[in-house]
Amino acid sequence: MVRRPSETFQLVHPLQDVVLSPMNREDLDRIMAIESVSFPTPWSRDMFLAELSSEHPWAVIEVARAVRGDAADSQSRKRRFSEVDLDGDGVDSPIIGYVDYWLVYDEVHLLSIAVVPGWRRRGLGRILLERPISAGLMADCAHVVLEVRRGNAPAQRLYESAGFRPVSVRQRYYSDTGEDAIVMMKTLPSSDHGEESAENERGG
Ligand SMILES: CC(C)(COP(=O)(O)OP(=O)(O)OC[C@H]1O[C@@H](n2cnc3c(N)ncnc32)[C@H](O)[C@@H]1OP(=O)(O)O)[C@@H](O)C(=O)NCCC(=O)NCCS
Repeated sequence: MVRRPSETFQLVHPLQDVVLSPMNREDLDRIMAIESVSFPTPWSRDMFLAELSSEHPWAVIEVARAVRGDAADSQSRKRRFSEVDLDGDGVDSPIIGYVDYWLVYDEVHLLSIAVVPGWRRRGLGRILLERPISAGLMADCAHVVLEVRRGNAPAQRLYESAGFRPVSVRQRYYSDTGEDAIVMMKTLPSSDHGEESAENERGG
């Protein structure tokens, strides 16, 4: 088992309007709202609470918050924030996405990633996806693995663009719809795991 990232970790996106931090129990309502608009079968509150508990020390959930810029911000940024306010139910720094992953031995397992509809196609999914990849690199993991619904083209495009490749199919994996799961994997470069292959490079 690999340790969780420091509770004090915080990343400010270069655009200075998105901040990433570990999820707290207070974030649960907002996460549940994002779940309900993002997945056919949303996770329950108990499932998220288990992820946050000491029962799952390998689990990491990081949330992305939209934060206001200063008065000198460009018009385009102000426009973005007015959209975020609508999306965030009036909350000052609403959670606009999250990523949930497990660090177990030499593997990172990406369990879930979601962005609120009003913030999609702005690069936030890619920023969130960088977190399990970076954590895996820091922990010297061999690869990052995930399952994605066969019909979820946006997510598959996102993963492909970050260097993930399909490795197998799990037939009728999702019990709610009977949909197949595509298993996708990104091999991480490491001195312990052989040479980095061109396939692992970003931007595919
Ligand atoms: C999948 C998801 C997280 C992507 O988040 P996002 O913030 O829109 O992603 P990004 O803006 O960072 O997009 C990165 C790349 O992914 C691909 N992509 C994302 N959405 C796409 C779409 N609707 N159609 C085609 N490609 C898409 C593109 O290659 C995109 O790069 P580009 O914008 O330069 O073309 C988001 O659509 C979502 O929350 N979906 C619902 C939950 C879900 O299905 N999660 C995945 C479970 S396996």
